[in-house]
Amino acid sequence: MSHRNQTLGEFIIENQSSFKYTSGELSRLINSIRLAAKVVNYEVNKAGLVDIIGNAGDTNIQGEDQQKLDVYANDTFIKTMTKRNIVCGIASEEEDDFIAINSQDENHQNKYVVLIDPLDGSSNIDVNVSVGTIFSIYRRVTPVGTPVTIADFLQKGNKQVAAGYVVYGTSTMLVYTTGHGVNGFTLNPAIGTFYLSHPDMQFPENGNIYSVNEGNYSHFPKGIKDYIKYCQMEEGDRPYTSRYIGSLVSDFHRNMIKGGIYMYPKSSMAAKGKLRLLYECNPMAFIAEQANGKASDGFTRIMDIEPTELHERVPFICGSKSMVQKAEEFMRNA
Ligand code: AHG
Ligand code: MN
Ligand code: MN
Repeated sequence: MSHRNQTLGEFIIENQSSFKYTSGELSRLINSIRLAAKVVNYEVNKAGLVDIIGNAGDTNIQGEDQQKLDVYANDTFIKTMTKRNIVCGIASEEEDDFIAINSQDENHQNKYVVLIDPLDGSSNIDVNVSVGTIFSIYRRVTPVGTPVTIADFLQKGNKQVAAGYVVYGTSTMLVYTTGHGVNGFTLNPAIGTFYLSHPDMQFPENGNIYSVNEGNYSHFPKGIKDYIKYCQMEEGDRPYTSRYIGSLVSDFHRNMIKGGIYMYPKSSMAAKGKLRLLYECNPMAFIAEQANGKASDGFTRIMDIEPTELHERVPFICGSKSMVQKAEEFMRNA
């Protein structure tokens, strides 16, 4: 079937047989994410109209202000996946601990756990700038039918079965991979249907965009400083252009389409950087690699890092392969 007019629903059904494990469970899970994304999209789109903007008065485990849409998106994704009874556990950036689902019911056969950043780029909500959702899916490692444990969540990124993001931008898109390339679907808001608009997405091998919060420059490691200077140097195809939205999902999405590198390095203020390995870096790394890109902490492949805690952070360099390789070269030689 041509990808023209193909809906996400049709795509999921047609590609079910190419999943590693074909019980249909993963298809149902992605379907429920699709549904929750539409609900959150509706709410994000009218954020300027309703009294939903502002802090909920809570702070999350990382000590950051939670805004109301974070809470709303968190609840929506968790409820949708819980009520449909298709996962055995969920961990969210907005929850202190993981949630075990149906752990009392020894008949439940669900195999998958989901890790989610329900609203990424939340500081952009009240200024009408794109935000996103990031998700990451693993098979549990403990026996089916028993309550999930922390071990089911602390898996290396290279064990991911699927990962994706939703970008609530000028159009809303859902982009995901199950390990067979990356496909992007655009929501037609008039009828609430996602259509395959970006089949087989690929990072250009090289690019000319660099994305980093340069306000932190003086706190960056020497290798990053040197690489930023290299990006700015007049030589060959340089200087590169600087683009930084402050929503990882949106910065990544642009760089994947146009070619570029995203960096959130460690700094003298944040020893491990800011981004979370499990909710942000691993899923984006899986998508990047599936799209011919690369993701690293400066030295090590992101997806080979052994996680030790749910909310751990890691330096993140991700994007077009040759650009990330170049940045790693500067890190090694610093
Ligand atoms: P979140 O809204 O889920 O907390 O994530 C925000 C992240 C990421 O999306 C973005 O790239 C980065 O924080 C921006 O951080 P700075 O404001 O420090 O540049
Ligand atoms: Mn985030
Ligand atoms: Mn978030």
